[in-house]
Amino acid sequence: MSINEEVNKRKTFAIISHPDAGKTTLTEKLLLFGNLIRSAGTVKGKKSGKFATSDWMEIEKQRGISVTSSVMNFPYMGHQVNILDTPGHEDFSEDTYRTLTAVDSVVMIIDATKGIEAQTIKLFKVCRMRGIPIFTFINKLDREGRPPLELLEEIEEVLDIETYPMNWPVGMGKRFLGIFDRHGKQFVRFNGNEDETYIPYQDLDKPENQDLVQNSTFQETEDELALLDEAGDQYSLDAVLRGEQTPIFFGSALAPFGVQTFFDTFISMAPAPTARKSTEGLISPDNPEFSGFVFKIQANMNPAHRDRVAFLRVCSGKFERGMSVKLARTDKPIKLSQSQQFVASSRDTIEEAYAGDIIGIYDPNAYRIGDTLIEGKESFEYDELPQFPPELFKKVTAKNVMKAKQFKKGIEQLVQEGAIQLFRGSNDESYIIGAVGELQYEVFEYRMKNEYNVEVMLESIGERIPRWLKTEQVDRTMFDERNLLVKDREGEYLALFKNDFSLRWFKDKHPDIELVDLFEVN
Ligand code: G4P
Repeated sequence: MSINEEVNKRKTFAIISHPDAGKTTLTEKLLLFGNLIRSAGTVKGKKSGKFATSDWMEIEKQRGISVTSSVMNFPYMGHQVNILDTPGHEDFSEDTYRTLTAVDSVVMIIDATKGIEAQTIKLFKVCRMRGIPIFTFINKLDREGRPPLELLEEIEEVLDIETYPMNWPVGMGKRFLGIFDRHGKQFVRFNGNEDETYIPYQDLDKPENQDLVQNSTFQETEDELALLDEAGDQYSLDAVLRGEQTPIFFGSALAPFGVQTFFDTFISMAPAPTARKSTEGLISPDNPEFSGFVFKIQANMNPAHRDRVAFLRVCSGKFERGMSVKLARTDKPIKLSQSQQFVASSRDTIEEAYAGDIIGIYDPNAYRIGDTLIEGKESFEYDELPQFPPELFKKVTAKNVMKAKQFKKGIEQLVQEGAIQLFRGSNDESYIIGAVGELQYEVFEYRMKNEYNVEVMLESIGERIPRWLKTEQVDRTMFDERNLLVKDREGEYLALFKNDFSLRWFKDKHPDIELVDLFEVN
């Protein structure tokens, strides 16, 4: 098979959602389609309880589980499906965001009983700024949720994206009868117990379907559908692929209902890998020479061996185990002998991979997040990964002042690796660490101690809203504890606002100072 044919088979996506919307449940159903697992309930042991923050081995165990299941791949309907996990809950970190730089599309799950929730908004923004196509699955239709039209309105308003319902539910909870599959022009009838019947629209008139058609909930929904046909957005695959319209699917991951219809349609519409931006212009995925970039580094997966695995997204050509490539940043050759792919709960050695695939490569402490690896003579680097706005901030100091040198070295290296973000106090040059999730601090503390032999003290500054200041002159008197002035690694000033109120207050008081939100500029 040619490289082009291999690439076009690939469907690489991530599932994003707020905790408890049903990501694990839906993922399990998809893995069942791929015959990757035999029964539901085997994807991750997240119900095994919270880990004690001090116990790294426990974190490892937890992380180990989520790492090995962090990329799942299987063949489906002639395609090669790659699902990337986006760690949530207590695992939420910058890695969760960075995973989104390695996918070609995203499935966003929304809980029909709750609508849009906080974590969904954050992850959505990252997809938005990168123009990633987003497919929406509105879950838990087997429960009494919010009216479908209201949910659509909320998605359009809060996320500012056009919606196009690919299907439309008839009833919810106990009254749930099934869905109109607008795309497949059929009614999918819910018979309970994992049983669905597919009735083409033209067969709805048949006598055996009269009980359904005469049902008042069915008839009300027909009116709703007519309204949607008239007043709703027009379906446009182009708009979907540009990330401007999201196709909406209703269903229940648990029942399960509508999952097959959703997945089949999604797989047929989702984009295969496309060209990626580099310092030498766009690089096509069927470019014969191998290239890829590192989007995540997992350190200390096995504390006994101190090994590190770099997760690489293949962007062009063909990867072959043992091949020699070049690390673009240093121009040095590297042999990729230990490579892995991750399937559910085991790690298999991988022999070859194509654009769209994710592979884990052994990291001899050589890689940084965002690094480009290339085969052949060409020289280019893929676009730098964006910096994501941290939300949690802590002041850090070494417990033992005699360890200042190791302390600085450790922080510098971990910052370079992308494990944390570093800021400096504008007055006292104190070290302030920014992170997206609490887990990053746990990993930071552990690694400082184990790799650099420095015990650190962390003092929380709390959750903050960071805004970069676009101004020539910074007047320090404008800032205090509520809008703490700090500098980033490049020496750019930013203010860490205590809450929305202090942000608004500052804006009102200083309308001439432009405040930049990283989510909007990346
Ligand atoms: P997450 O990975 O997004 O955090 O969500 P997960 O799949 O773990 O689902 C969270 C809870 O919601 C689980 O219940 C799960 O069974 C339930 N759930 C998922 N999909 C559906 C659905 O379509 N309908 C209904 N009614 N419930 C759904 P739990 O009680 O927290 O856990 P469990 O003990 O049932 O596993």
